[in-house]
Amino acid sequence: MADWPIIVEPSILSGDFGKLAEEAKRAEAAGADALHLDVMDGHFVPNLTFGPRAVAAINRATKLFLDVHLMIYNPYDYIERFVEAGADRLTIHLEATEDVEETLEFIRRCGIQAGLAFCPETSESIIPKYLNKCDLMLLMTVNPGFGGQEFMPEILEKVKFTRQICDQLLIRKSGKTFSTKQEAHRTAPFNIQVDGGINETTAQQCIEAGANVLVSGNYLFGAKDMREAIGKLKTGTSP
Ligand code: DX5
Ligand code: ZN
Repeated sequence: MADWPIIVEPSILSGDFGKLAEEAKRAEAAGADALHLDVMDGHFVPNLTFGPRAVAAINRATKLFLDVHLMIYNPYDYIERFVEAGADRLTIHLEATEDVEETLEFIRRCGIQAGLAFCPETSESIIPKYLNKCDLMLLMTVNPGFGGQEFMPEILEKVKFTRQICDQLLIRKSGKTFSTKQEAHRTAPFNIQVDGGINETTAQQCIEAGANVLVSGNYLFGAKDMREAIGKLKTGTSP
């Protein structure tokens, strides 16, 4: 069990693209905490999905928090359009721009949350530099681009490392003394998100390593009962 609330975000990439609005409503009715929207440009990743107009249409269909994962080069140029479309958080890739800090700052200035994503091969040593500059860190557990890939267990170490440095920073910044790590998390949890190959088994491994935001596409949209599957991601398989 985690020491803080677990957020589950169905990834609409695994939904039916002929009815995105209905798929968003289905996720909301199943008790999703947020909806994950993957934007791909065919350059940063070898796949294409959708842009701001589709995000706006989904936004009209649901009250869910819209977490937009931008797998595109030059994300700065598209921030305003996704904000206008109703994104509640924009996550950019470290590997996709030379203006990481400027882009994160701009997203925050637009009044929404900023996330920073790291591809599996990107070294964890760069992570501490950006902790203060974003609201979420996304540690990719597959190579970005496609749903339905196999989880990469080696990323669990990166999740552990990130949670450790978050805790240290949190404790230092707060100036308070927390008696336990759990108390520090509850006071101001930092979002560590995992994305790719998340199912009831890998979800538990990620939660144990310190992740608190789980993205899941094929497992949730392929489930007979999405509500039950969301529950399994949060708490593990019931005996
Ligand atoms: C992959 C996307 C993911 C994808 C995950 O690049 O970022 O959000 O939808 O799909 P599953 O859970 O099927 O691996
Ligand atoms: Zn994603």
